[in-house]
Amino acid sequence: MDKNSKIFIAGHRGMVGSAIHRRLSACGYTHVIVRTHKELDLTRQKDTEDFFDREKPACVFLAAARVGGILANSTYTADFIYQNIMIAANVVHASYKSGVKKLLNLGSTCIYPKLAPQPLKEESLLAGYLEPTNEAYAIAKISAIKLCRYYNEQYRTNFMSVMPTNLYGINDNYSLEGAHLLPAFIRKFHLAKLLRKNDLGAIKDDLRRRGAPAAFKGPADDVTGALACVGVTAESLTLWGSGTPYRELLYADDLAEACVFLMERYDAVRIGEFVNLGTGEDMQIRDIAGLVRDVVGFEGEVRWDASKPDGTPKKLADVSRVNALGWKARTALRDGIMLAYKDYLQ
Ligand SMILES: NC(=O)c1ccc[n+]([C@@H]2O[C@H](COP(=O)([O-])OP(=O)(O)OC[C@H]3O[C@@H](n4cnc5c(N)ncnc54)[C@H](OP(=O)(O)O)[C@@H]3O)[C@@H](O)[C@H]2O)c1
Repeated sequence: MDKNSKIFIAGHRGMVGSAIHRRLSACGYTHVIVRTHKELDLTRQKDTEDFFDREKPACVFLAAARVGGILANSTYTADFIYQNIMIAANVVHASYKSGVKKLLNLGSTCIYPKLAPQPLKEESLLAGYLEPTNEAYAIAKISAIKLCRYYNEQYRTNFMSVMPTNLYGINDNYSLEGAHLLPAFIRKFHLAKLLRKNDLGAIKDDLRRRGAPAAFKGPADDVTGALACVGVTAESLTLWGSGTPYRELLYADDLAEACVFLMERYDAVRIGEFVNLGTGEDMQIRDIAGLVRDVVGFEGEVRWDASKPDGTPKKLADVSRVNALGWKARTALRDGIMLAYKDYLQ
């Protein structure tokens, strides 16, 4: 990849794609092409192939996907498996047909078996049963890894895959139903703080701009009713699960740095089938919630609803392979949460 290469970022408006875009601009890449989902639906094979034939990008970052937290993943299982398989199959095949020189496919550490030894090593892929709450998504992500691998083997392409751990950062998804752990915490703590201050105007504004809970069917001005649907009351905030599982969190701009670093210096042969990306450190969800609570400034009680699913008990990536290639995450969790909350408030 050189500074004038034509680079296509699939999913450039998402959290990961936009971070890769920022990183490429900061590194002096001048020829980046993008399309919104509306302009180019990557689940449509013909549209995808026509686009690649016309544009002939030299490099591709595949960051387009149907993504969501535990609730969305376990509710929209057909959408998650169908859309993610179609996007991966179409982009990988069109990249091969149009002569793309390098492709980097974004996967996720949810590809690993639920009870794989921790920290999760790349070798644990397909060594056991998946976590049921995100099996559909994981199967699609595993298919994408294998697509890259088998196109490399049969057609001598240079398609790499990376498996980031849980991400958070600028431009995250804060939907009350679809968000991942950290953005969901940021929004819920923020709303709970506003409710404690009785700042109903600010809550209304937040719900109008970022969406109210879909489960709430009451009148639009009943903000306390809307927030109660997602566990926010004037006295307390109730979060999903027991709070005891462990999670690792990587700041999206650190991830983007790793993606560009790997595209610049490595190829699929040296990376192998794929490489994990993470910080190599995890924390109990209760403690992560404590950090968000401090950064946001919520002073009420935090409760845990253990009747809701916890997901995988622990999910820590072994990052020794990528560390040995010369990359290490650098944003501390508290600093990253502060940056993400600042972005949320903007
Ligand atoms: N977020 C995480 O915690 C996390 C963790 C590990 C791995 N990852 C991986 O990172 C990648 C990106 O995730 P993200 O968090 O950045 O997701 P995101 O914020 O939801 O963004 C997804 C992007 O994909 C685009 N997209 C979705 N369906 C499309 C379609 N059919 N055709 C064209 N574009 C489509 C969307 O386009 P529009 O904006 O135009 O709608 C959006 O830009 C995914 O592969 C995900 O598995 C994410």
